[in-house]
Amino acid sequence: MAGVLNRFEGKAALVTGGSRGIGLGIAERILQEGGSVVITGRKQESLDEAAKGLNAGDRLLTLAGNASHEDHRAEAIELAMDKFGRLDHVVGNVGINPFYGSTLDLPLDTARKVLDTNVVSTLGLAQQVWHRTWKENGGSMVIIASVGGLKSAGPIGIYGTSKAALIHLTMQLSDDMAPGVRVNAISPAVVKTRFAEALYVDKEDEVARAYPIGRLGVPEDIGAAAAYFLSDDAAWVTGQNLVADGGSGHTKTV
Ligand SMILES: NC(=O)c1ccc[n+]([C@@H]2O[C@H](COP(=O)([O-])OP(=O)(O)OC[C@H]3O[C@@H](n4cnc5c(N)ncnc54)[C@H](OP(=O)(O)O)[C@@H]3O)[C@@H](O)[C@H]2O)c1
Repeated sequence: MAGVLNRFEGKAALVTGGSRGIGLGIAERILQEGGSVVITGRKQESLDEAAKGLNAGDRLLTLAGNASHEDHRAEAIELAMDKFGRLDHVVGNVGINPFYGSTLDLPLDTARKVLDTNVVSTLGLAQQVWHRTWKENGGSMVIIASVGGLKSAGPIGIYGTSKAALIHLTMQLSDDMAPGVRVNAISPAVVKTRFAEALYVDKEDEVARAYPIGRLGVPEDIGAAAAYFLSDDAAWVTGQNLVADGGSGHTKTV
């Protein structure tokens, strides 16, 4: 139960896109378990609001910037190293989904942007942390993928393609950075956040019926899963993709 465990005492984490939604849920869990956290997001205003809600004093730092900018990623890593003296855990949570429609009509510049932000930037983040500290000191990483990466994704095809790439990247990085660093992915179905609002607002009961657990996901669900993967409880687990979907992925649909 949140708050009972203390798995992150003396540890420091970086959560990208931590000002709301899933990233905020993960940051909150790490803080509850005694860790220190840097959260990022593009808007300082949202970061300030998150910091106010988290009320974690000097165990929480914020940095505004775009996850797809190499300099911003370097600054976020440096902030943790400088103020916390270490960076044990990284959550690559930022993901964008700007296009809804047929993949056959998808502008290729949009495809490049999605793949750049969702995949290339996550790889860049891993490379930068590796060279800055993990090569010597080890650590653990969680990548937020999606059930959209497990099968064809209808009108969000390039998003699904990027998430499939992240699931593969998780396996690749878990090999490349072993034995000192573990890397695991989480693939959520619908979690109640601003990002997914269009999928459930005004029809939540109806949407929830597709879930054997009987409800949609909430950021705390993903926070708990990420905390497990990041912590030593998962010391022998790497390269895995946890499907957190309220049971919806294996129910009979036809
Ligand atoms: N919610 C779901 O149902 C669901 C399901 C499966 C997977 N996911 C994945 O979960 C991750 C988080 O989604 P969410 O639902 O929590 O979204 P959300 O509530 O919209 O939160 C997104 C967070 O990322 C930040 N952000 C967005 N673009 C950014 C960028 N380019 N650089 C830096 N920060 C950025 C946002 O802050 P700013 O706007 O201030 O930048 C915010 O903190 C995504 O990778 C998404 O694909 C979500």
